[in-house]
This record gives sequence, structure tokens and C-alpha cells, in this order.
Amino acid sequence: MRTPADLYSSRVPRYTSYPTAPHFNPAVNGEIYRGWLGALPKGTALSLYLHVPFCDTLCWFCGCHTSVVNNYSPVKAYLEILRREIEQVAAIIGPGHPVTHVHWGGGSPTMLSPGDIRALAETLHGKFEFAPDAEFAVEIDPRGLTDDVIAALAEAGVTRASIGVQDCDEVVQRAINRIQPFEETRDVVDRLRMAGICQLNVDLVYGLPHQNMARLQHTIEMSLTLAPQRFAVFGYAHVPQFKKHMKLIDEAALPGAEERLDQFDLAHDLLTADGYLAVGLDHFARPNDSLARAAATGKLARNFQGYTTDNAPALIGLGASAISALPQGYVQNVPDVPDYRRAILAGALPAARGIALNDDDRLRRAIIERLMCDLSVDLDRVSRPFGKRAADFGAEIAALRPLVEEGFISIKDGRIAVRAPARAAVRLVASAFDAYLGRTKAVHAAAV
Ligand SMILES: C[S@@+](CC[C@H](N)C(=O)[O-])C[C@H]1O[C@@H](n2cnc3c(N)ncnc32)[C@H](O)[C@@H]1O
Ligand code: SF4
Repeated sequence: MRTPADLYSSRVPRYTSYPTAPHFNPAVNGEIYRGWLGALPKGTALSLYLHVPFCDTLCWFCGCHTSVVNNYSPVKAYLEILRREIEQVAAIIGPGHPVTHVHWGGGSPTMLSPGDIRALAETLHGKFEFAPDAEFAVEIDPRGLTDDVIAALAEAGVTRASIGVQDCDEVVQRAINRIQPFEETRDVVDRLRMAGICQLNVDLVYGLPHQNMARLQHTIEMSLTLAPQRFAVFGYAHVPQFKKHMKLIDEAALPGAEERLDQFDLAHDLLTADGYLAVGLDHFARPNDSLARAAATGKLARNFQGYTTDNAPALIGLGASAISALPQGYVQNVPDVPDYRRAILAGALPAARGIALNDDDRLRRAIIERLMCDLSVDLDRVSRPFGKRAADFGAEIAALRPLVEEGFISIKDGRIAVRAPARAAVRLVASAFDAYLGRTKAVHAAAV
């Protein structure tokens, strides 16, 4: 019999997209991407994601697509190419598309100079039409953040800051090569608020080396004093086979599956006791926050940044490795910066791979998104627009029986619901609807 801890350690995707990125293929190239962008009907709302793949120093736990630069010239050169990509993409899409969400991620967008932050925002405002209430979010590394950068972000129209805290304990910070005194984080939060950037998220990570219950409790209590509207509490994904720098992390110091589960439960209990509502798998939000409201009304969405209120039908990824999610399918840009530059300089769209969606993909994506967002899904309701019914998913429901018998989920009248203490089971449930995984096998493989 599995325990909830087994569910956390099972190797199934996090479903930030469906089909997931390993199933993207090179047949979706720049020409196809150009066709998809050009076919977006006038009036389609757009969400823009800009990737800045640079950092000052490397955190050993980092799973993001980034590299460390010792001087600013590669960043400057990258921004020039990024500007060209923005111009190229905007010209293909044409006018008449309101931008409702903008997200700058990385890496560390806050390592851009104040002048470059202003220039990049100006390019975006010049080439796209922002909706009046557009959300503009930026990922913030608080370490060494200057007043000039904060002023530039405010002037650029940034409305939301996602602040990387991870863990406040010095021992943990040393073990991940990220020294970040809490006073510095607090100071950045104060200065962001003074500059008018008041919608704040705090990112925490559990399962880090040397983290234990006492240290995590301290981190959460300290972070609560920052009073952000939202928390993201990510489980550390240790993948040294893909990210070589993770080999610098002492594996003997990593919490085991049981401890990870206890750590997440502790975070959950402390945050909910303080009045935050659990949203999806790993987010928490104040009840009056738009994310909590979206969750309460079934409008929560999931994209590559995690949970979001962003319901724009077209997400356009700009920059090396960025992924676009268009009505026709997904497209990922070339991850390697020199290759990305070569593609843009040759006048091509820098698409490396992707996947075109068929109706079955769209239906399964809708089911998986509802599961990941709501921890439940009404199969009849989601399937109806596709001309299908819950009864069409007999094989998937049969494959989920073990999870029902183990008490992790319930299935009644085509409605699947994950019980709260077993919320990690949601990825397993989602994987039963993943036609690319080989459905029954995925569920059984997780039991080992
Ligand atoms: C793209 S990073 C950028 C944030 C910014 N550079 C910083 O470090 O403050 C966004 C968030 O992803 C999370 N993250 C990064 N690597 C991770 C990993 N291996 N496992 C889980 N979460 C991770 C961290 O919480 C981080 O703040
Ligand atoms: S966690 Fe943030 S600052 Fe650290 S290496 Fe990753 S992207 Fe850079």
C-alpha cells in the first residue's frame, strides 16, 4: 500500500503543459510557427513571456535555463537580439491584439540595467497594444537589487513582483550557494512597495539540502512577516543528470520522501493558519487575491510559470528557450543563446521544436488542467464541448482504481476528486489521461 509520501516521490510530469515538453518535436519549425502566429484572429488576447537567461551567480539548486555571466556585454548583446525577435513576432501577428499579461522570467531579469529595463518595456509597449488593466509580472532576485532597478521596473509599468526567497536559514543557503540575508529581502520588499509595486509573491522551496522542520518553520514564519499576497512553495526537483551544477549539492543532506511530505504539510498548515488559501498543488493566496478568486470560481489556469489567472488564448514566448502556447499548439525557441542569435540574424523565427494539437490533445489538456488547478474534474462537463462523455474514459478510470482503493481519490458519476491530504496524487491522476505516457503503465510505474 502506498503512502502519500510515495506519491510525492513518483516520477510523473508536473503538467505545466499537455502534451509535455519531452514530446515536442522538430517538425514544428520557424515556418510553422510563423503560420500559427499569422493565423491568430484579430482581437485574440495575448500573454507575453520574456526569458532572460542570465544570473550573477549560480544557485546550485537551480533548475531554470540560465547561465552565469561575469560582465554585462553578453546581456546587452542578447537584449538586442530579443528586441529583434519582438519586432519580428509583432509584425507577423499584426495590430488588434490586446496584451493582458506580461511576465519577465529567467534567470534573473533584475540583472538588466535600469536603462535596458526601460528600453525593453518601451519596445514591448511600442510593438504591442497593452490592455489598460494588463498585469506585468517580473521575477526578482533580491540580492543586490538597487533603487535604480526598482525605479525602472516601476516606470516600466510592473505591477507584480515574484520574489525568490527559497529558504532563510544560513546553513541551507550555504548548501545551495545562495547567501541572502533576510534583512536584505525585507528591505527589497519595502522598497518595491514604496515604488508602487505592491502585488507580491514569495517563492519558497522545500526539500533542499539540510532543510528540516525547524528550519522550514523559521523560514515560513519570517516570510509571513513580509505579508505577500501569494506564496509558491515548490518541491526541490533534484535532476543532476540534466543540470550538472546540482552535483555540487550534497545528496546525503537531502530530505527523504517522508520528510519532504512533512515539510510540505508544515508549509501548508502554517500558511493556511495565517489565512492563506491553498491554490492548486503548491500555491497559496490571500482570499481577496485574484489567484484565490480564480481558484474559487474554477477559472484558475496553469502555464509554464505555474498557476496563473492568465486566460489569454495565446501565450507568446520570447527569448532563448521560451515556450509559446498557441491555439494551434506549442513551440519552444532554441535554448542555446548563440543558436538563438543565429536564427534571428538570419531573419528566421528561432523555433526549435513543438507540437501541433489535435482534438484529443485539446480534450486531454483541458481535463489535466482542471485536475492540476482544482484537484478535481467533472469529466462530462469538460468533455461535452468535444462531443465526448465520461463513459469514453473507461480505460483511464479503470487505471485509477488502485488510487481509489488506497483512499487517495474518489470517482463518482464521472467526477474525479483528489482528497486534500493526498494532493500530490493529482499528478498521477493527470498522468492517467496522458496519452503520450502509455496510460495504465504510468499509474503502475508510480507504485514502485
Ligand atoms: C526562474 S527562478 C527565477 C527567480 C530569481 N532568479 C531568483 O532566484 O530569485 C523562479 C523560481 O523557481 C524556483 N526553482 C528554481 N529551481 C528549482 C528547482 N530545482 N526545484 C524547485 N524549484 C525551483 C525557485 O523558487 C525560484 O525562485
Ligand atoms: S535560482 Fe534564480 S538567481 Fe539562482 S541561479 Fe536560478 S535563476 Fe539564477
